[in-house]
Amino acid sequence: MSLRPQELLLAPSILSADFTRLADALAMLRSAQRCIVHVDVMDGRFVPNITIGMPVVAALRRETEQVLDCHLMIADPARYALEFVQAGADWVSIHQEADPHSHRTLGAIRQAGAKAGIVLNPGTPVETLTDLVGAFDHALLMSVNPGFGGQSFIPRVLDKVRRLDAMRRGAGIPFLIEVDGGVDPDNAGALVAAGADVLVAGNAVFKAADPLKAIAALLAAMDAGRKAAP
Ligand code: DX5
Ligand code: ZN
Repeated sequence: MSLRPQELLLAPSILSADFTRLADALAMLRSAQRCIVHVDVMDGRFVPNITIGMPVVAALRRETEQVLDCHLMIADPARYALEFVQAGADWVSIHQEADPHSHRTLGAIRQAGAKAGIVLNPGTPVETLTDLVGAFDHALLMSVNPGFGGQSFIPRVLDKVRRLDAMRRGAGIPFLIEVDGGVDPDNAGALVAAGADVLVAGNAVFKAADPLKAIAALLAAMDAGRKAAP
């Protein structure tokens, strides 16, 4: 039995957008199909870069009703996760590597009214999620080492997606599988065929000459991958 959702989603990462024109980026995404807004939060401790914090998430919230998918690349995410929910995040994802009490933090995110996500770095096996299934709404597999946009895709993630999809079917508990890093139209189909439901794309969208065309190409590749899925 498939536990996959009806609709595949694309999550363009505004980290690759022009920060002086975030409202324009949101307007562009609003006119696109099947897009949510991926927000990369980095603290300079868990990852070697500093980006967006709660005030920017609150500003995005005032500007759009689209789903804000906040990816927290921060140390001690339990300390701030609820502040991101209060700022208006719809989805809040925490790194498994950053929180020894991820089960508790995921529960707190859900209780605060947001969807709770767990994130794995490229070197963290999906089997570390076995006893967490049911406690999260989406699992985000990194296909680059987090910290920067525009890095090269690590193909090993494809096998991780397949193993996580098998885990989902084995448990009989639905959750979304999201993949983040170096996604483009050349690998999007294979990711969806492997079991991914949501793909993050930064540079492939915002550095394209025509972002809406780039989104359409990514979604078309994803749909083709879905048709090819076993
Ligand atoms: C990496 C971030 C990603 C990244 C995606 O640390 O979590 O969301 O911005 O950008 P691309 O698609 O350019 O790799
Ligand atoms: Zn991200």
